[in-house]
Amino acid sequence: MLHLTDLREILRYVPKFRDRVFVIAMDGAVVEDENFSNLLLDIALLRSLRVGVALVHGAGHQIKRLAEQTGQAPSNIDGTGVTDAPTLQMALTAANRVTHEVIEGLAAVDLSGAYGHALVAHPAGIIRGVDYQMTGRVERVNVAMLQALLEHDIVPVIPPLGCDGEGRTYRLNSDAVAVEVARALRAVKLIYLSAGGIVRRGDESLRQLSVEEAQALLTGARAEIAETMVSKLEHAVRAAREGVPRVHIIDAKVEEGLLAEVFSNEGVGTLVHANEYQAIRRAQKKDARSILKLIQAGVENDELVRRTRQEIERQIGEYFVFEVDANPVACVAVHPYSEQRKAELACLCVDGTFENQGIGAKLTHYAEAQARALGAAELFCLSTQAFNFFVQKGGFRLGTPDDLPPARRERYERTGRKSLVLTKKL
Ligand SMILES: CC(C)(COP(=O)(O)OP(=O)(O)OC[C@H]1O[C@@H](n2cnc3c(N)ncnc32)[C@H](O)[C@@H]1OP(=O)(O)O)[C@@H](O)C(=O)NCCC(=O)NCCS
Repeated sequence: MLHLTDLREILRYVPKFRDRVFVIAMDGAVVEDENFSNLLLDIALLRSLRVGVALVHGAGHQIKRLAEQTGQAPSNIDGTGVTDAPTLQMALTAANRVTHEVIEGLAAVDLSGAYGHALVAHPAGIIRGVDYQMTGRVERVNVAMLQALLEHDIVPVIPPLGCDGEGRTYRLNSDAVAVEVARALRAVKLIYLSAGGIVRRGDESLRQLSVEEAQALLTGARAEIAETMVSKLEHAVRAAREGVPRVHIIDAKVEEGLLAEVFSNEGVGTLVHANEYQAIRRAQKKDARSILKLIQAGVENDELVRRTRQEIERQIGEYFVFEVDANPVACVAVHPYSEQRKAELACLCVDGTFENQGIGAKLTHYAEAQARALGAAELFCLSTQAFNFFVQKGGFRLGTPDDLPPARRERYERTGRKSLVLTKKL
């Protein structure tokens, strides 16, 4: 749930996304969901923050219903199989209706939507001996038109249909259309809204995956992932490989899910990211607040020493943050004691949502490299509750307060926290 107090958090993101484009792709079923009007309000909020939004929608749900109502058997529902002539007619009727419903919905939140010839398509052709007939592939996105709409504060609404140069229409798969549109518009985010929601492997919700991890899942554990999510994940991997930095897969039924995913660390869906967006960097003064927030829970449990913002700011050059989606989700500090050729690893903390993904281990290795670069021969750290982590995962061994440099020892005695001392030769 997003609260008013989160407004500050939201405003922090605004400059990053202003005048950038999000492509939001919704399955046909989402348009009929009771949460659809809330999603439109979220989109209106994004627009009010000057985030450009292009909407791609599917129509599978409506084609299925239309087929049932008219007693026809569609040759394919989702634009990936064979589209025969009657199915194309159904797709046209169903998709045009969905497009119009989206435009109506946008109008209800004071946004203008527009539908135009956004996609130039060609036939998918004959694949392994099967003629896919009126199923098409995106050949080109009409970027000039979409950009003109965006510049005029109009939300382009893009159905899963395209035309070729001869004026023939083809049925497309909306997940694939979204990738092409996001790529062509250089979108900073592609957001899939589906009724299936987050990607799960068995019981485990997968919140954050690098492209490589997502690909490995598709190759190795495909059977453990819901069929509806496989297509989303495949397209997310393609989009991320082709330059869309972040792809989110969100449950369209979660109220405020879209905003929570975009504007908070605790997203509700699955994020697939290109790896360069996950990085360790030296903290800057502006990160002091995020660091303070990150360590808050650890401080309350006495896992970490209480630090004031001023203290963090004073030593900010010794802190490092680990970012996901340009957002600090973990931190560590390396304090040098040059005289003793030692350094302290301190303030290691991983946001609860991102634990057990190897981030703690990565930051520990990074801190070691940093200490080495500072000329230290030994790295030590003090821990009240994570000592086993350092021993078992980091190769530290249990030391004694005698291992601490005199100034640190004096502070150690003074605080009375009785932390264990861990050391590692570098
Ligand atoms: C300790 C901490 C940094 C680990 O971060 P993380 O990103 O979850 O760690 P990783 O993903 O690299 O490693 C996870 C592994 O460490 C283990 N682990 C995590 N915390 C542990 C602890 N307190 N004791 C022993 N093992 C621990 C996990 O069980 C997991 O084991 P597995 O790989 O066998 O499944 C994180 O839990 C944290 O922020 N704790 C609170 C702050 C703290 O105590 N900091 C240390 C003081 S400087």
